Amino acid sequence: MATRGGFSSRLGFIAAAAGSAVGLGNIWGFPAEVGAGGGGAFVFMYLIFCFVLCFPVMVTEIAIGRKTEKNPVGAFNALGFKKWNFIGKLGIISGFLILSFYNVIAGWAFGYIFEMAMGNFGVAENFSAFKLQVFKVGGYGLVFMITTAYVVSKGISGGIEKASKILMPTLILMMIGLVIYSFTLENSGAGLSFYLLPDLSEINGTVVYNALGQAFFSLSLGMGALITYGSYVRKDENIVTAAALITIADITVAVLAGLLIFPLLGFITQGNIGNGDMATAGPDLIFVTLPQVFEQIGTGGALVGALFFLLLCFAALTSTVSLLEVPVSYVVDEFNIRRKRAVWMVAGLIFLIGIPSLVGNGYSEFFTNFITYIGADQPTSFLGFIGSIANDTMLPLGGFLVVFFAAYVWKKHNLDDELAKGNPNYKGSFVQKYLNFAVSYVSPVILGIIFILTVLGTFFGINLI
Ligand code: PFF
Repeated sequence: MATRGGFSSRLGFIAAAAGSAVGLGNIWGFPAEVGAGGGGAFVFMYLIFCFVLCFPVMVTEIAIGRKTEKNPVGAFNALGFKKWNFIGKLGIISGFLILSFYNVIAGWAFGYIFEMAMGNFGVAENFSAFKLQVFKVGGYGLVFMITTAYVVSKGISGGIEKASKILMPTLILMMIGLVIYSFTLENSGAGLSFYLLPDLSEINGTVVYNALGQAFFSLSLGMGALITYGSYVRKDENIVTAAALITIADITVAVLAGLLIFPLLGFITQGNIGNGDMATAGPDLIFVTLPQVFEQIGTGGALVGALFFLLLCFAALTSTVSLLEVPVSYVVDEFNIRRKRAVWMVAGLIFLIGIPSLVGNGYSEFFTNFITYIGADQPTSFLGFIGSIANDTMLPLGGFLVVFFAAYVWKKHNLDDELAKGNPNYKGSFVQKYLNFAVSYVSPVILGIIFILTVLGTFFGINLI
């Protein structure tokens, strides 16, 4: 059997895992959520959740992967708990579903690079019309999927690690450049204070709930992506430190995205951010509002706009790569199919599954008004439907199951043994005590509650918070 390959260096793993974490979720999702609910209050809750609740899940996923050197299904088999491998199967289905629509959005971002570069800012006012051109936009999506598949086909160190080591630093440099630029614009301060000054009275059930969902998605948890990446990590790696660095990188990029976007919003609203004239939330924030800012900038706006969407695509690419790697590693390990073959087969299939998400933005009436949830007054599109099933429901469920499994089935002492490899001071440390407590109680209880609340709230219209 061919060797599975692995990351060649510590930095390579951290760059790849941080690349998975940093994506549309940070640059698009995070500022949009901040704009929708609570400003700084949201940011505050988000930070707490990343460390207290998500970090233990991340450490557990990486440990299971490294211990077994297997894909998310094979990992449970290798630990001797075949009955529990449904957790891995759920993860693989989540990866399939998330990539199918994530790639559609990445395709829009990719197309916007060219629109901005050509100074075609009008595309923003006609975002709906842009999405209607399904052949053009689908073509952008296809190119994006092919690029993703190409990177994954090159393997772990030669593809994923190499791409991440180039894309991640470039992304951060580009962001810092754009942040500095956005600070120079008039009324940038108004945007910044909206973003950074938490008004704690804004914290309510919805803000808490959204912050948790955002943290979980943003850190790529709950679908075995980090079990998969963990399976390629060397035994002398310190998992706890690596997970801390990955979390910090993810938070840094999200915070930077806010520092980039809110000054721009301060500028375009002439300091009246949140007055309702401009979309400061949801998908429209990036695809409708920002291009209008670039237009207002005048000379140089095309360049700033094109750079912004290029940056967004870099972030998305390292995430799509990790989303594709999860099912690919499963097919390679369990069915003994060569990596290259597995990659093109799986990528092709996911692209096809994404077509309803592509055409469900006005082009196909059926997929646009796909389903009306009980108690909802508006129908949800196919893309939205897959998002609520995969991101909002399956990820917290997967996260819950992984920590539950580690604490009560695999057992904590086995998790501890794995975490102590490459970390001689781990046993007896405060971090060990906290992780033990969190994996047994904090994370499963909160994730279990979130899962139930989501199912009731989203699909049955029963809102308990
Ligand atoms: N973390 C990515 C983002 O924030 O855009 C999305 C993601 C990637 C989720 C990989 C889950 C995953 F396994």
